[in-house]
Parts: sequence; structure tokens; C-alpha cells
Amino acid sequence: MARMTMEEKVGQLGCFADMHRPFAADVNPEVAAQSASEVLAEVRAGRVGTLFNGVGAALGREAQRIAVEESRLGIPLLFAADVIHGMRTVFPIPLGEGASFEPELARRTARAAAIEATAAGLHWTFAPAVDIARDQRWGRGAEGSGEDVLLGCVFGAARVRGFQGDDLRAEDALLATPKHFAAYGGAAAGLDYSQVDISAQTLRDVHLPPFRACIEAGALTLMSAFNDINGIPASANRWLLTDLLRTEWGFDGLVIGDYTADMELIAHGYAEDERDATRLAFTAGLDISMQSGFYRDHLPALVAAGVVDRAQLDASVRRVLELKDRLGLFDNPYRSLDPQREADTSHREAHEALARDAARRSIVLLKNDGDVLPLRRAGQRIALIGPMAEDRDNLEGCWVLFGERERYVDLVTGLRAALEDADALTVCAGSGLEEALPGGIDAAVAAARAADVVVLALGEPQRYSGEAQSRVSITLPPAQQALADAVVASGTPVVVLLRHGRALALEGGVRDAAAIAACWFLGSQTGPATADVLFGGYNPSARLPLSFPQHSGQQPYFYAHPRSGRPELPGVTEFKNRWRECTNAALYPFGHGLSYTTFDYGAPRLSTSRLTWDGTLTATVAVTNTGSVAGEEVVQLYVHDRVASRVRPVRELKDFRKVAIGPGETVEVGFELDRRQLAFTGPEMQSEAEPGAFDLWLAPSSVAGEAVQFELLGPGVE
Ligand code: BGC
Repeated sequence: MARMTMEEKVGQLGCFADMHRPFAADVNPEVAAQSASEVLAEVRAGRVGTLFNGVGAALGREAQRIAVEESRLGIPLLFAADVIHGMRTVFPIPLGEGASFEPELARRTARAAAIEATAAGLHWTFAPAVDIARDQRWGRGAEGSGEDVLLGCVFGAARVRGFQGDDLRAEDALLATPKHFAAYGGAAAGLDYSQVDISAQTLRDVHLPPFRACIEAGALTLMSAFNDINGIPASANRWLLTDLLRTEWGFDGLVIGDYTADMELIAHGYAEDERDATRLAFTAGLDISMQSGFYRDHLPALVAAGVVDRAQLDASVRRVLELKDRLGLFDNPYRSLDPQREADTSHREAHEALARDAARRSIVLLKNDGDVLPLRRAGQRIALIGPMAEDRDNLEGCWVLFGERERYVDLVTGLRAALEDADALTVCAGSGLEEALPGGIDAAVAAARAADVVVLALGEPQRYSGEAQSRVSITLPPAQQALADAVVASGTPVVVLLRHGRALALEGGVRDAAAIAACWFLGSQTGPATADVLFGGYNPSARLPLSFPQHSGQQPYFYAHPRSGRPELPGVTEFKNRWRECTNAALYPFGHGLSYTTFDYGAPRLSTSRLTWDGTLTATVAVTNTGSVAGEEVVQLYVHDRVASRVRPVRELKDFRKVAIGPGETVEVGFELDRRQLAFTGPEMQSEAEPGAFDLWLAPSSVAGEAVQFELLGPGVE
């Protein structure tokens, strides 16, 4: 630190697109792209600390050599990238993985991604995204774990552990960055980059907990969000980045701004010009500026003028250097830059089995009337219809920069491989993703009529979700809807497979099909994983991490909504908390998902109906597999606070467990609950549980089960 010039210090606070080894020709459209030689000149001059979204061990090694041998102080570079749900091997989108209700699975896929990413010359991923998405119009829900706070916390924490591994200095440890801090998912009307105008309590109870959970799991960096929160942009929000994060939470890691987020303070109308934007972002607590170059260009003068405190600058620089040290870069700057390791593809092959398992564990069976599923491997004529049948361009979902596309296995290939008689399968697109095909519907209906069962592969193009992909209507494209309506009307039983990055409002033939499976974007092993579920090689065990509404216009629609003073009442149409066109019930609620077996729940039993202030309550339920095959059930614990000083949600998930149960077997599933799980932010911003009556459910979904009651006793009451 003592030897660093001002220029070298601000250099460490800059993160720039890695034009030396870019993953695509035009990776940074908003800002004049620097050429490879310009980037390397900056490295040589010690004017950059981190390069991002480049790939390749050999080229990375060369850039690192320049930093270490040719820059004055030899400070190693950090290499970052968006490795969101897989590197070469692609796992399901995080939303899909959330449906597994298996955080351990997310830890394992994050670990695999880290192994591949570090082999490709990376130290740092800009993941996990832990934004809670309660409005399905917003496209970035695909990157998170859905609408629920608890899922957001446990999946975020699991991914941090998976990326980073046990030892940050290990060759295959990948630094994690929970994002986007904070409340990015709260965008008004689900429109990406729009304002977030929410109560301080909702911010604390809904949007912040996943970040806290990730920090507790070992996250050392956070990425600030693009949006404003109640009028103050998150990336220049001193309350958020300093008062809350550092003073209240004691976070001593590093905050990186999202791509040009400091520059965008000008467009927000929050900063006057570049210098002002730099001042506002930096003094609020944003350590690293991504891509704008504002810190490099303006921080030195701001420090010289005494506008920015030199000690604050030093503190941020020290955080960057400490991070590099924690990764072991000062001891071994060439860690994770081994071309031999990159050339060895054995780890990728090993990860394919995990990708397949993760994908089938993410498929939610929404409906299975008449037990049309599982299909038979022989003796059944199957028509595979729809634009996703042979598609290879919409397997991975958003944010896959480095996927090994040649290895992807599409749906038709997976199905064919699973059949004993490959001739039993006929394939017909029927329509394009967005446009009708001439004669497509007629051909599809003919194929359906000639078959015993139809597998109808539909979905959103993958570019409908992800960043800046907001929709006004969360339906399937009209051409596919018309196809589905005609195929379902053919009378042959139809199994709909949906590919999607959000909840969809299902209509007409899609909604009325005999069977429906929510398949998200499943990644490299889409075909084999789907075949596993379709033919019963894997008994589906996933549950919805978000609510499927009846109509698009119900957004934002989520199960844990606060109670209304005029709740919907069956049969009463006027002056109630209801929509005109449909009931308030979800088409498929949060937590819902079917299996090829059935589970029966006994009545929940509580160890006590009087939970003392410092005590613990045990809630137990007997779950019986009443079918004839083994299956996995997700037992969900919900609570509801009957009377409180703020209006409370109708139900909130507080715990869950996935249990494997053999046919005819009964398993006792027990949970412990204490008052910390009942706490919420009150009217005076106190975070505490309130004594009084609670309902508790142990149930297979957010709308199922009978509640039992308990009372939380006040402090000192026995
Ligand atoms: C996204 C971030 C991402 C960054 C770097 C931004 O546009 O919002 O999630 O990490 O780009 O690629």
C-alpha cells in the first residue's frame, strides 16, 4: 500500500471487460470497447485490478505474466466472469434448480461449475443471483430461486459454498458474488431497471435475508444493483452499502458495482456528471467500478481536492488486495491458469451425470390426469410435437457465456435413446417458436391422431428471460398456443413439456392437456433428463419455487401475500379482494408438484402448544407413500402469525425437507421451530417475534393441509 501511487490505487478499483480473451466479439456494447492491446497496456501500467468475461487459461496466463512481471508493483490480476449455472457443462437455470428443493444439489452444481471455470482461467464468478422475484413479468427471476425468502436464503448460501469450496486458495476455488444488492427483483411492474418503491420492512424481510445468508456462508463480495430503492440508486446508496452492510452487518468484504452502475447515476438524474457520479458511488461504499472507467478517471482528482477521503480510498484498495491475498494470488499468481488442466476434459464428462441428475430433479410434474405418465418404452406410438422437440438453441437458458454446445443433448435425442423401439417415435414441429409454419398445425394434428400419446414440447424462447427481458403477458407465443389448442382437440392424450424462465399463465389446450411438466431450461442434459422423467426412470420430486397464476394480469402474484381486510369469499362477487375474471387461487401453487406415487399426510403433532420465548417446538408429521413405487416427497412447514403489529402473510415457508419413502412405507418427519423463525420487522423497525397465536402447517404445498395452533409466550412467561 505504501508503495502504491494514486494511479495504481485507483487501478485496483477498476474492473474492465477482458478484451484480451473475450468470449464474444462485442461484449460491452454500451462502452467503447478497448482492444486487446489497450487492455494489456493498462495492465502493464498497473491501471486495472480485475478483468471480466474473458476465458482461456493460456491467454489469461499471459495477461497475468504482464501484470506480475511487467507492471511496476507486480500486483496480480483477478479474472471474473458470469458463471451462473454452469461453465462448459450447463446445469438447469437457478430457478429450475430451486424447484428441486435440494440446496445440496445447488451446492454440487456450483462446485462443478467452479471446477470447470477455474480450469478455464477464472477466479471469480458474479453469482449467485439471490434476487427474490415476485413479479413474473421480470425476466431475471430465471437467475434466482423464485419467490420465496427461505428458498432464496438456502439456495444462495449453498451456491456460495459450492463455488468457493472449503479452501479459497485451492486451484479450483471460485470466489462468489451474491447479487444484485439489493431489491433488484422488486422492479415496478416487473420491468427490468425500473424503480423499486417498497417499505423498509419489505426490504428487510424479503429482499435482504438472502444476502445475509450468503455472507454467513462465506461470501466476501457483493454486487450492487442497478435500481433505485425508494429514490436512492442502490449503487450510490450510503445507507445500504455502508450503514446497513458494514456498520449493522459487519461485512468486511468488497462491493463491486454492476456493469456501469456508477455511470448510470447520471441517467437516473441522481448525479450531475461523471465526477459527481464517481463521488456519490464511491463515498456511498462502492469499492469497485465495473467498466465505466469513472473511478480511474475521477477518483484521483476527488481525493486531491479533499472531496473523497484518502483513508476511504485506501480502505477500498486494501479490500481488493486482501481479496487477492485470500485467493493466494500473491503466492501463486498463476493459480487457475493452467492450460493443461483446461485441455483435460475429463471433469466435464464427469459433470454430465450431475447435469442429468440436476435436470431431472428440477422437473415439476404439475398435472398427470389419468396417469398418462410415465410413458412406456415400447408398445406405445408417441408423437413428439412442437418447436422445442428438435430445438438446440433454447436448451441452456439465459446467461450461459461459455457452454460447450456440441455436447448438449436435445429433447428428441434423449427420447429416442430411451425408447426400446425408436420407430415408435414420430416428430413434427407443428409451429415455430414465434411464427406459425405453413401446414404445420395440420401435420401436427395428423401426427397426434396417428399416435397413442403426444409429447408436446413448447416454451418461451430463452431470450424471453434473463436481463432486460420483461414481458407484459407471461403466456406462450400465440403460434404455439394455436398449435396446442389444435393438438389437444385431436383427442389423443397430450403431455405438455414447458420450457420457460418464469411462471407462465397457461391457457386453453396447454392448460387442459392431460399432463403438464414445468421443465425450465435444463441445460446440457435436457434430453436424457426429460426422458428419465417421461419414462419413469426417475420419479419426479420437484416442487414449484413460484406460483403459476391463472392470468398474466395477476402479477405480482405470490403465495406469501399479506392478509387483506376484505378477503375473497367463495360465492361473493362484490367488494371483496378478488379479480373479476378469476378466483385468487393459483392455477398451480407454490410448493406444488406431483409424483408417480401418492403421499398421505397424518395430522401434524406439536411437542407443545405453548412455545416459550427461548424454547423450541418440535412439529412432526407421518407421511405415508400410498402408491406402488418409491418416491421423494417435499414436506413443507408453513406458519401464519394470527395477530401482529404489522399485517402478516397468509402463510410463510419456514422449513422443508425432501424425504425418500418406499412404497407402503411411513416416515416421521420432524422440524424444530423457535422464535427466531417467527420474527419480522415491525412498525418501529424492530426485528422480533411477537407473542400470540400462530397457525402451523406440515403440508405438500402452500395451499394444502390443515393448520394446528400454538402460542408463542412472551419473555419470562412459562
Ligand atoms: C448484469 C450482471 C452481470 C454484469 C457483468 C450486468 O449487466 O446485471 O448480473 O454480472 O452485467 O456481466
